[in-house]
Parts: sequence; C-alpha cells; structure tokens
Amino acid sequence: MVISHSSSGPGESAYNTFSSRYAGVELPRYRMPENSIPKETAYQMITDELMLDGNPRLDLASFVTTWMEPECDKLIMDSINKNYVDMDEYPVTTELQNRCVNMIAHLFNAPINEDEKAIGVSTVGSSEAIMLAGLAFKRKWANKRKEEGKPYDKPNIVTGANVQVCWEKFARYFEVELKEVKLTEGYYVMDPLKAVEMVDENTICVAAILGSTLTGEYEDVKLLNDLLVEKNKETGWNVPIHVDAASGGFIAPFLHPELEWDFRLPLVKSINVSGHKYGLVYPGVGWVVWRSKDDLPEELIFHINYLGTDQPTFTLNFSKEVQAR
Ligand SMILES: Cc1ncc(COP(=O)(O)O)c(C=O)c1O
Repeated sequence: MVISHSSSGPGESAYNTFSSRYAGVELPRYRMPENSIPKETAYQMITDELMLDGNPRLDLASFVTTWMEPECDKLIMDSINKNYVDMDEYPVTTELQNRCVNMIAHLFNAPINEDEKAIGVSTVGSSEAIMLAGLAFKRKWANKRKEEGKPYDKPNIVTGANVQVCWEKFARYFEVELKEVKLTEGYYVMDPLKAVEMVDENTICVAAILGSTLTGEYEDVKLLNDLLVEKNKETGWNVPIHVDAASGGFIAPFLHPELEWDFRLPLVKSINVSGHKYGLVYPGVGWVVWRSKDDLPEELIFHINYLGTDQPTFTLNFSKEVQAR
C-alpha cells in the first residue's frame, strides 16, 4: 500500500494519507467539497476508485487491445501538453499531422501528384471523421440544388442497415434522412443493387463499409461504383460514394492490394479510417481524406487568426491534445 507524506499548507505538519483527517471525511459525490484536500490524498482516493475498472491488458473482449510500445508512451507524454490547434506555436506537430494525412491519401490511391498536398484532417475517431465527410456531402449537394433552383430541404443518405451507430448520429444531428438497405438471411452487408435502387435526386451520398462492424466483411464498393456510374448517367444526377474504412482501411491495402475499393473508383470522394481498431493504439484517433479539393466545400473551412497567422480548420472540436496522430 502506498503511504505518502505531505504537508497540506505552510506551517502545517506532515501527515499520512490514510490516517490523516482528510481521509476520514466523506467527500460529496456530486458537489464540489466545501474544503480542499491535499493533492496526495486526492490522487490516492481517485486511484483507489479507478481500481474498480477492468484491467485493459486483460480486456480482449472489446475491439481494441490498448497496449503501446514504451517509446509511444514516451512520445505521447513528451507532447501531451501541446494543444495543437495552435498551429503557429506547434508547427512541427501540424506538419506531422499533414504527413499522416498525405501518407493515408497515397495509401488509398488519391489522384494527387507528388508535389500536391492531400486534403484531409485527423479526428478524434471515425465518428468525427464521418460527421465531417457527411457535412461536406450535404453542403455540396445543397449547393448544386440551389444552383439548379431545386428544393434542398430533404437530403437523404443510403447505407446498409449494418452501419455503425455514428451514421445514425450523423443523420439525426445533421437532419439527413437515413435510408437503410435491409439485410437478409445469410447476407449481412449492404447489397449494392438494392442501395442503388434506393438512390434518388435527394441522395447526398451512398456510404459503403469496408469492414462491417458486425462481421468484418467488406462491402462491394466496386460494384456499387459501377452501378452508380450507370444510374448517374441515366438520371443526370451525380451521387457520390463515401467509404467507411474505419476497420478495413489499414487492412485492405496490405492484405488485398488488388481489391478496388478506394480512390481508384471515380465516385469515391472521401474515406474515413480509425487508427485504433487494430490494437496497439490507445483510443482514439481517426482521419478523413477527400479525393480532391473540389470535394470539400470551401465554406466549411474556418479560417481563424486570433492565435497568430491564418489557420484553416475543419473539425468539430477546436482544442485538441497531441496523441499518436
Ligand atoms: C465501420 C465503423 N465505422 C465507424 C465506427 C466508429 O469509429 P470510432 O470509434 O473511431 O468513432 C466504427 C466503430 O466501431 C466502425 O466499426
């Protein structure tokens, strides 16, 4: 048992954590206590309470193993006091984030030249990445409808019924109708044929999953792309595809490099991926990358300058601590 000693203030004598008068006082659960307690006692009490959590090293039931190399721990702790939204103060951290975005865009075969920068951003996880990608589709669709003088108050998105809850969140939070392709006995991912049948002029995008949350299966993005190309040709619409590669984005390029699911397919305009779905990473980190600049409406990018020079941001949160990004 840890016995720590401290003096609680100038002139007060040293005390022992568990036998001190501070440890004998019951602290209110939902209100701030009237009086302060020494930091050592506070630390001990919180640590003791956290002992009731499970042990992450024994947690093989959730979808991640949260162990990282000691060098990663060290890097994280070395940088944890940087709030990297301040790109002027932490330009190297910003540069590292940009390098990750570019590496991922190249990994996903984005059509960018060697001297061109990829368009994307790191996020808290795939959920934030999906909110951002969905917003970009909604805005692009609405802008086009406005130009054509058509109504733009009933956007919808087509997905399989197997989508992760973040798509339902996106739909509810950002007022987009979620049109789900029903799963059938023995077929537990989105059927591209049925998905394309459900597409209409108000569809902002079809979301395909590479690595279904339920089974890990890849949806057939190539077939979806080909069917949608045909439908767009027939109707004059321009319905794009988003690939939710939260789980498969760092698997498919290495294990199935010949599989066409990414920016090699012309209708795939954005892709999200999680960094923490494979173990050896603490939750959570994600990225969203766009095919090109044209796929991210400029008006969604905020330019802030109160921390120094112009800093373009497109994230839901402002402040962000540096982790393994
Ligand atoms: C296919 C898919 N998309 C999105 C998410 C959400 O990812 P995150 O936990 O990184 O927000 C998950 C998480 O399980 C997922 O499996």
